[in-house]
Amino acid sequence: MVRKFDFLVIGSGIAGISFALKASQYGKVALLSKTTLDESNTTYAQGGIATVMYEPDNFEKHIQDTLIAGDGHCDLASVEKVVNEAPTQIKELLGWGVDFDKTEKGLFDLHREGGHSEFRILHHKDNTGYEIQQSLIQKVRTDKNIEIFENFFAIEILTQHHLGDVVTQHTSGIECYGAYVLNNQSNHIHTFLAKVTLLATGGIGNAYATTTNPAIATGDGIAMVHRARGVIKDMEFVQFHPTGLFQPGQRPTYLITEAIRGYGAVLRCKDGQEFMQKYDKRGSLAPRDIVARAIDNEMKIRGHEFVYLDVTDKNAEETKKHFPNIYKKCLESGIDITKDMIPVSPIQHYLCGGIAVDLNGRTSIKRLYAAGECSCTGLHGANRLASNSLIEAIVYADAAVKDAVNEIERTRFNEFIPNWNDEGTKLPEEMVLITQSFREVEQIMSTYVGIVRSNLRLKRAMSRLEILYRETENLFERSVVSREICELRNVISVAYLIIKHALRRKESRGLHYTIDYPKRMKNET
Ligand code: FAD
Ligand code: SIN
Repeated sequence: MVRKFDFLVIGSGIAGISFALKASQYGKVALLSKTTLDESNTTYAQGGIATVMYEPDNFEKHIQDTLIAGDGHCDLASVEKVVNEAPTQIKELLGWGVDFDKTEKGLFDLHREGGHSEFRILHHKDNTGYEIQQSLIQKVRTDKNIEIFENFFAIEILTQHHLGDVVTQHTSGIECYGAYVLNNQSNHIHTFLAKVTLLATGGIGNAYATTTNPAIATGDGIAMVHRARGVIKDMEFVQFHPTGLFQPGQRPTYLITEAIRGYGAVLRCKDGQEFMQKYDKRGSLAPRDIVARAIDNEMKIRGHEFVYLDVTDKNAEETKKHFPNIYKKCLESGIDITKDMIPVSPIQHYLCGGIAVDLNGRTSIKRLYAAGECSCTGLHGANRLASNSLIEAIVYADAAVKDAVNEIERTRFNEFIPNWNDEGTKLPEEMVLITQSFREVEQIMSTYVGIVRSNLRLKRAMSRLEILYRETENLFERSVVSREICELRNVISVAYLIIKHALRRKESRGLHYTIDYPKRMKNET
């Protein structure tokens, strides 16, 4: 079946929905979610959203904090854009009904997290993402110009590659015409033709064995652009959050927000000793790459599986008021955070790299935009400053709409795109082939491509991955398309790109640390 829309939005987190809400003023929008509208990384965000609000904070301080965390790899223009435009985008969120906590005096209650020199994190208790996602969903469900497709899985973006013979008449750089999309309930593959397509497919957490990301985070957008020969950047910069709740076997790992360290919690070894001052004068509030590496080191030296996060010195009622969900969640596991220390360990959390975009959210492929975690804007450089991703997503979604509107006026649908051809394919005999390969990718990435890397580990990871790649491509050629096999292909592509980019970097910088090149180079490699 062929469907036609002015805008095709793939992803229903903060990037996708905020884009859809603005784009709907200019044309018909299709909004796709691979499961339900609310299942996204956005929903799980805890700490909040960074923006300059009150003195003594100012734009320059937020810019400097972002640049320092990014370890010399940020794009200054992108940093300035996000920081300067943040307050306007926060007003939009407020207008859409998002509720941020206020103090008794009626001012916004600001939190502080690692690497921030000021209190500047707007939040809703300790479940800011849920509040944002729910408010956006309420708004989008009432928008007559937006058609919502839940359980619709985008398989491939459409480019000249899908035109066969017609390709020569069209080629002057790659163009995007929409996407092939699998209806997960009927198993039909639809052709969505669009004048403009936005990828807002989120993170890649499920390439790793433990992650804070929900199951939807399989790097689909990045893999689709890679297959379409678009530009992907900075994949070696995978962020590990220092404090995932230590609960082996839980997936996703429950996060203990960094805001709790901003509030006064400190990291301790099992014997109760504080250790962060040994690593950085900012102690437990140093940027994430430094804290995660320090914890990893302490755990390895001592042979421990976790360290402790200690908030017991703070007023119990205040702690419960600020972090009610964390209090409740830990209590379910027998940990009363007002009395007991919390066992934590670093956990895959975020990807700084992704689909390369310019200041307007344009990718290297014509009429294809990207925003949110799947994109690489240059804001985060080699290490993201906490709570800078929700704000980046909404600022770039806004920029993309403004730019894309011009495309709508001058673009026609590409009517030559054929329907998906699955002739000669059949159901895979054994689903276990897919699930087992998935587990193997996660193990390879967690074992060899984690917080501390080496050439030997990376090369071993690449050779193991090559086998999985060949087996999976072979299976894909012969199988009826399913979400499962597509996601496996996608995590393999993402893993390949992370390893490839990591091998290319002959230095340690930000989140990429390798024992073979432990120093940061003066000039970037
Ligand atoms: P997401 O919100 O992940 O949405 C992705 C969407 O894409 C989903 O709707 C999914 O269904 C859809 N999708 C994916 N693939 C396909 C496909 N093939 N076809 C169709 N649809 C598809 N950041 C902060 O700034 N502050 C925080 O406090 C914070 N806390 C966090 C806590 C946790 C536990 C986690 C996991 C992340 C946190 N982050 C935080 C990071 C932040 O939440 C994410 O980077 C951000 O929400 C990403 O938004 P997004 O719109 O790009 O993607
Ligand atoms: C957290 O609440 O610690 C997560 C914040 C983030 O990832 O930006």
